[in-house]
Amino acid sequence: MNKQMPKAGTVEIVPSILSADFARLADEIAVVASAGVKMLHLDVMDGHFVPNITIGPPVIAKLRKHSDLFFDSHLMISEPARYIEAFAKAGVNNITFHIEVTDEPERIVEQIHALGCTAGITLNPETPVESIRKVAPLCEMVLVMTVRPGFGGQSFMADAARKVIEVRRMVGPHIRVEVDGGIDPDTTPIVVSYGADTLVAGNAIFGQADRIAAIEALRKAGGKG
Ligand code: DX5
Ligand code: ZN
Repeated sequence: MNKQMPKAGTVEIVPSILSADFARLADEIAVVASAGVKMLHLDVMDGHFVPNITIGPPVIAKLRKHSDLFFDSHLMISEPARYIEAFAKAGVNNITFHIEVTDEPERIVEQIHALGCTAGITLNPETPVESIRKVAPLCEMVLVMTVRPGFGGQSFMADAARKVIEVRRMVGPHIRVEVDGGIDPDTTPIVVSYGADTLVAGNAIFGQADRIAAIEALRKAGGKG
């Protein structure tokens, strides 16, 4: 299994299964893997931090048996500390949690690392970059949300995306800066020019009939991975 997060600097397209056919997840994942992506984005929603509910550890543990991709989990949940062990045991490789839900992000990062996973910190569009200044250097990834979390297929928020510039300046070249929400061939060159190297795409891949051609289109637009 690919347990190593690809080194920062290479642009990676990261399919989000949120827009995939949930009745055929293993097949959907195999198709994007055949296009050569290295990471897969797993959106976890608890119906509390966000007004939607998706998947949890049992589903992820089953997917793990069908895929060697690096599992990039995005926990949109109110109490990440309570569940990270279950996600690590289910086989995720990276655990990203929201700064809005905790006063002790450094402790959560420590717990994630102790479980053998890499850690990501993320912030909602309206949350200032300043809020992650202390924790960001401890993480392997910072995720800048470019939509309000909760649903796939929303429009890209250009103002939120501009925070990537500030985040990249804050963390330097060795930490991945991921963007999530409304990433498509039009918005890809914008976020790459700001310094993002990890591009989550749900609807732009799984909303298209030909997933492989959709990944190719994103690569052409500026995301080479
Ligand atoms: C939104 C999720 C995203 C979502 C992105 O809350 O965190 O990962 O899948 O979907 P698109 O690419 O369709 O905006
Ligand atoms: Zn996400």
